[in-house]
Amino acid sequence: MNNYAYKINGGKRLTGEVEISGSKNAVLGILAAAMMVDGPLTLENVPDIADVHVMVDLCRSLGAEINEIDVHTLEIDPRPINTYEANSKLVSKIRASYYLMGALLGRFGKATIRLPGGCNFGDRPIDLHLNAFRLMGAKGARPSDIEGGIIRMTASPLHGAKVYLDIVSVGATINTMLAACKAEGKTEIINAAKEPHIVDVANFLNAMGAKIKGAGTDTIKIQGVPFLKGGFTYSIIPDQIEAGTYMVAAAVTGGDVTITNLIPTHMEPLSAKMREMGYTVEDGDDSIRVYREDGAEIYATNVKTAPYPGFPTDLQPQTVVLLCLAEGMGKMHENVWQNRFQYVPELQKMGTNINLFERVALVNGITRFKPATVLATDLRAGAALVCAALAAEGTSYVTHASRIDRGYEHIVGKLRMLGADIERVDYSGDLEDIEA
Ligand code: EPZ
Repeated sequence: MNNYAYKINGGKRLTGEVEISGSKNAVLGILAAAMMVDGPLTLENVPDIADVHVMVDLCRSLGAEINEIDVHTLEIDPRPINTYEANSKLVSKIRASYYLMGALLGRFGKATIRLPGGCNFGDRPIDLHLNAFRLMGAKGARPSDIEGGIIRMTASPLHGAKVYLDIVSVGATINTMLAACKAEGKTEIINAAKEPHIVDVANFLNAMGAKIKGAGTDTIKIQGVPFLKGGFTYSIIPDQIEAGTYMVAAAVTGGDVTITNLIPTHMEPLSAKMREMGYTVEDGDDSIRVYREDGAEIYATNVKTAPYPGFPTDLQPQTVVLLCLAEGMGKMHENVWQNRFQYVPELQKMGTNINLFERVALVNGITRFKPATVLATDLRAGAALVCAALAAEGTSYVTHASRIDRGYEHIVGKLRMLGADIERVDYSGDLEDIEA
């Protein structure tokens, strides 16, 4: 399939309002959780993004009925599901397909699934997930049991367990919650992840009649129940990372943007850093306004990514772009992923001055980005490169833009509404194509 690029004629201030869509990392867990319900339900505020389309197709491949009421509303009835095997090619397209391990184990006491895919920034093990399932009684849940890239687990039945996560893991926290919902007895997740999307998945499960307490803290307790009922409507929380990306886009273009339909407390790690740098960040009830006071100096700062409420790793590339336009030298410490600076060589093509030392990027401030043709190495890196291109006077291209659309709904339309000159152009790998 022809890939495509975003052609951006940058140097324009972004102004106006932009509305945030539902959270990718909440809805992917919630779609998997919905496969355990014994009845129909409705999801609202579902983001119109590629990863959701893949997950919906995957759920349909199991037999679930999913109707699009409108682009943001899904009516789901998982009752026709007649298999615990999820090994279509779709599984290896997205990382979040691994939530079906917990959901199918929870529903059938069995799960056969292909290893997941997802962005490649270092190896992405699932040992914590498998360990949790094993503690809950699943057989076949050892890494050594994986054959030909497929995991085959059975548990008769799943029982509650005390699960200690030696690394704070979003995926392992959600997957353990899913499996524990219908397991016999009580499960305790210690050192659990506390991201907003963890809380959203737990709230959704409780709406189905699960008994989950403590989501959002580092200890989550789940009392297994025999039955999870449908018959309700659930609205997905706003996407914290999409919101942060637009906050950065506003700042680097010297703009004045109000980002609406968000939860300001979820943005605090980025808001605090932007205020520290000299930007004005005003919290509303469900909005944030970002701008730079006339004459305000923008200074570099140090940022360390960490599990929530620490600084989100998914805003790391965007924040490096922000640091590029600050006075002095900024530091970005990536403490969650082994290798999440693969986009830096692309940024260097835009005239930046960044030095990498393993998990630390030293960012020397520059006065402006140069336009260039750059490659989106992954979803968030691509969004960061779009921000840099919006700030760069002249025409830039961000190629492999389909990676950006995995997690950003209608990014071209939303940016155009803010005054950006951006369009999608076909690109099959040769620069000449792009010039055409
Ligand atoms: C989720 O990935 C998100 N993806 C990622 O966002 C995000 O970067 C990450 O959480 C951290 O916030 C989805 O929610 C679909 P982890 P996940 O398990 O669950 C190690 C985006 O841009 N680990 O919290 O895969 C792992 O290697 C994406 O939206 C193990 O060692 O992340 C990493 O170093 C990119 N063993 C750390 O834990 C395991 O079994 C955190 O990973 C699992 C994880």
